[in-house]
Amino acid sequence: MKVNEMNMIDRSADWRPAALVDIAAIYDIQCIAHADHPEARDVLLERLELCPQGCFVFGKRGTISGYLLSHPWRRFSPPQLDRKLGEIPGEADSWYLHDLALLPGTRGSGAGAKVAGLLAEQARQAGYRTVALVSVNGSQGFWERQSFAVHRHEMLAAKLSGYGSEAVYMERDLNSADFS
Ligand SMILES: CC(C)(COP(=O)(O)OP(=O)(O)OC[C@H]1O[C@@H](n2cnc3c(N)ncnc32)[C@H](O)[C@@H]1OP(=O)(O)O)[C@@H](O)C(=O)NCCC(=O)NCCS
Repeated sequence: MKVNEMNMIDRSADWRPAALVDIAAIYDIQCIAHADHPEARDVLLERLELCPQGCFVFGKRGTISGYLLSHPWRRFSPPQLDRKLGEIPGEADSWYLHDLALLPGTRGSGAGAKVAGLLAEQARQAGYRTVALVSVNGSQGFWERQSFAVHRHEMLAAKLSGYGSEAVYMERDLNSADFS
């Protein structure tokens, strides 16, 4: 699969479940979208191996221009950046959105909002009450539009230290009245 480098929005592209062979494109997009805090290819691959049902790619016919990686995890305990998880904890009580990233030419088309909604619905149907994430890269406003709210706890500060100075922990309540 090749990364779609066309600087235009393709309205026929859509989200689909990610496969292991998509890891090269996922890694390439990550290196562009998160150039300041890139994670190793094996770290991303492990997410895909541990929780394929939480991983999606955006594109069409052999081109990929975005991805979402997610998995069950513990609330208020974001994993360290660029570290393998080892396993999905048996006591996971939240769905953790590890990363959502689109190539610059694909942004602004509604693709991010669409997959955020799809994931929330999937997590709710699986019985989870929250989706959690760490917002980086000036994305807080985007997540707020997707019904996520910032949580600030002392115990979170240390866990966020590797994510950059603007990083904030956010959750979406899947039981709230605004869920759609
Ligand atoms: C953040 C990102 C995934 C958003 O995806 P997108 O497809 O461009 O967003 P959408 O087109 O679905 O936008 C949905 C809404 O959020 C708004 N929005 C998008 N990015 C925003 C941002 N950075 N800050 C505030 N609002 C934003 C849009 O204007 C739109 O508003 P509307 O509902 O009023 O129309 C994308 O910009 C991206 O890949 N960024 C680089 C990687 C990154 O930072 N990921 C987040 C990691 S936590």
